[in-house]
Order: sequence, then C-alpha cells, then structure tokens
Amino acid sequence: MPIPLLSCRVHATAEPPIPTARAWAARYDGAAGPMLDLTQAVPGYPAHPGLLARLAEAAGSSATAAYGAIEGDLALREAMATEISHFYEAPVAPDQVAITSGCNLAFAMAVSVLAGSRDEVILPTPWYFNHRMTLELLGIPAVPLPLRAEDGFLPDPDRLASALTPRSRALVLVSPNNPTGAVIPSDLLARIAILCRERGVWLVLDETYRDFLPQDGTSPHQLFSEPSWEDHVVHLYSFSKSYCLPGHRVGAILGGGAFRQALLKLLDSWQICASRPAQAALAWAIPALREWRHGNRRLMQERAVGFERAMRAAPAWKIDSLGTYFAYLRLPEDLPDALSVAEDLASRHGLLTLPGPFFGPGQQRHLRLAFANAAEPALSALPQRLTALHEAASA
Ligand SMILES: Cc1ncc(COP(=O)(O)O)c(C=O)c1O
Repeated sequence: MPIPLLSCRVHATAEPPIPTARAWAARYDGAAGPMLDLTQAVPGYPAHPGLLARLAEAAGSSATAAYGAIEGDLALREAMATEISHFYEAPVAPDQVAITSGCNLAFAMAVSVLAGSRDEVILPTPWYFNHRMTLELLGIPAVPLPLRAEDGFLPDPDRLASALTPRSRALVLVSPNNPTGAVIPSDLLARIAILCRERGVWLVLDETYRDFLPQDGTSPHQLFSEPSWEDHVVHLYSFSKSYCLPGHRVGAILGGGAFRQALLKLLDSWQICASRPAQAALAWAIPALREWRHGNRRLMQERAVGFERAMRAAPAWKIDSLGTYFAYLRLPEDLPDALSVAEDLASRHGLLTLPGPFFGPGQQRHLRLAFANAAEPALSALPQRLTALHEAASA
C-alpha cells in the first residue's frame, strides 16, 4: 500500500531551532556547572500577580468560554488603541486593531493577505527564523536582504531600493530586532517607509519588543502620524514579552482599509477568535500595568549593561550588537563555524546559545545570546564558559 505523502513545502522548511539546540544540551554532563540556557527570548520574571488573578477569574467564567468577535474583544481593542495613540503620539482607532493568537500567527495572517507564491517578500538577514519558516510554509518566496555589522545591522535604503523588483510585495522589519537587538532610528524608518510607499511595497513592522526600547516615553517612529499609513503599513505586536504571557498566545495586528477587510477572512478561518480570558485580563493590564512595564524595561536595560560588563572577561568574543533581549556575538577568528561552536558550547561547556545560521545565510560567524532571562549569577558564569571552549579549541 502506498504511504500517503506529506507536503513538500513542510518538508523543505527548516526544523524548529530551539528543540535542535536543546538536543545538544541533552548531551551535557554538567561538568562546568548548571546549564546556562540563553536561547529563548522570554523574560526571567513572572507575570504580574494582578494579571494572573484576573486571568484566573476570567477563565472561570462561562462568558469567556464562548466564541468572541473575529477581530478581538472590543475592550482590549479600545485599551490598545488608547495606549498606541499615547505611545506613538498619533490617533489609532479600535477598528484598526485586530487581536490574534500570538504574534507569529499575526505574521502568518498578515503576509498571507499581502503576498502569494508569485510574489516576493524582502526579509533582511539575520532574520527572525519563524518569519522565514512561515513564508516557506506558505510558499511565499523570501528574498534575503543582507544587513552588515558595520552598519549596526540597520537596513540601508539604497541597497533596499536596488533589491526591490516588480514582484516585491512587502518588506519585513523587526525593531527592536531579534536576533541583533538593533533599533531602527525614526528618521531611517521614515525614509524606508517613503521608499516602500513610492515603490508600491507594504512595510510590515514587527515591534514585539517595543516596550523594552532604551528611551522612556519617546515615540520610536512617526509612521502612524502619516494620514494614509494604513494603505502601506502593517504593524505587529506581541503580548508575550511585555506581559510575560507567552503561553496564553495573544498578539495584535494594526492595519486598516482594504488590508483589514481582507484580514477578517484569515482571522475567521485560521483562529475564529483569540483566547478570551487573556483578552479580558489584558484589557485591564494595558493601562493598569504601565508603571510595571516601565520597571521591567529598566531591568532589561540593566541586564544589557550587566551583560556587557561580564563580557569584558572574554575579550576574544566581540559583541557586534546588543539591545533589548539580545546580544549578537562574533566568534573569535580561530574558531570553526557557529553551528559547530554552538553545539560544542552546549554539549561540552554547558552554555546553550543559538548559532547565526539559524537566522539566515551569511551568519556563520555569529551566535545569538538571549539574556532576558539571565540574572547576575548566569551572566557572571558566561565568560568562563566561552573562554573554556576557546582555549580547548586552540589547544
Ligand atoms: C520578533 C518576534 N516576533 C514574534 C515573536 C513571537 O511572538 P508570540 O509569542 O506573540 O507569537 C517573537 C518571539 O520570540 C519574536 O522575537
């Protein structure tokens, strides 16, 4: 009997990176001390107790057990529109907000609205691996746009202009960035948005880490002040990091006009509605936990400073980029490629990181370290693990 086949697109898509890295870690014998896991971009502190209490209460009600509005519950969309209008100093309406089951699904639905298999989506490298995997799964060609360490891993508008073709439908930017932590300055983003608009290309901006921007109370860009933004900008957000709720799967898409009209089809058929207890609790949390979020932002800033300080004890490893949750480290020149270094670090030296090649082509000399959940003891143990590998390799 013939064995039924699986989709060739799924077959061609890369394996999920974190389980791959965890399999290396499973071989570690503990000789250098407890495993330091710097792979997952999750905050090291718990969700606010008030939020957890409201979640528990909402989850126990039969009202939130029912299907909700396709575009998300009004209370959360209103709270979010108010918060966004305040944060970006530009009016955004509740009917420009759609609530999704996490930001990864938000991305999948947004790009499905914008592009198909005959189009192209420009994805700067290093890219967020799930963006690439999603495009591959959907059969949408992704065109890498290499970013350079010497440019601070920021996109160059001239190089972008020459990468655009008549098939380009969208440019995807992540700021603050995963994996580099780089933040795209407001004026650069404005130039890129104008270029995209002039060339008929959507700008998809993922600001999952926006609540961890270094500066307090300053709008990171003016995209939403441009009256026709909804004709060429789609914005993505995640509640996973800012509210420490990754398991509850809530994200959001900002977009309007024809995009939103089309998006409703995806929202309806791919998720019907996002988790309703979490939506109810988050509608309270957005205004109520503003100060708590600011405190966490400062904590993450301190962690980045602590990371930089700790790394002075491992000077052969250069920090090419650092910010929000991530450091993008350059390997010492005499070490082999990042894949084998990451495997060796995990399986023999008890340090779990993600190698650059998981983030796209041309990344063989980098490692991503997510330090958001690494407190002081982990940060101070880090240089010793890196140095031990380097010494063993050069011996
Ligand atoms: C840039 C970026 N977008 C989206 C996500 C996923 O967010 P969510 O948990 O809301 O799906 C992540 C998680 O690491 C991320 O780094």
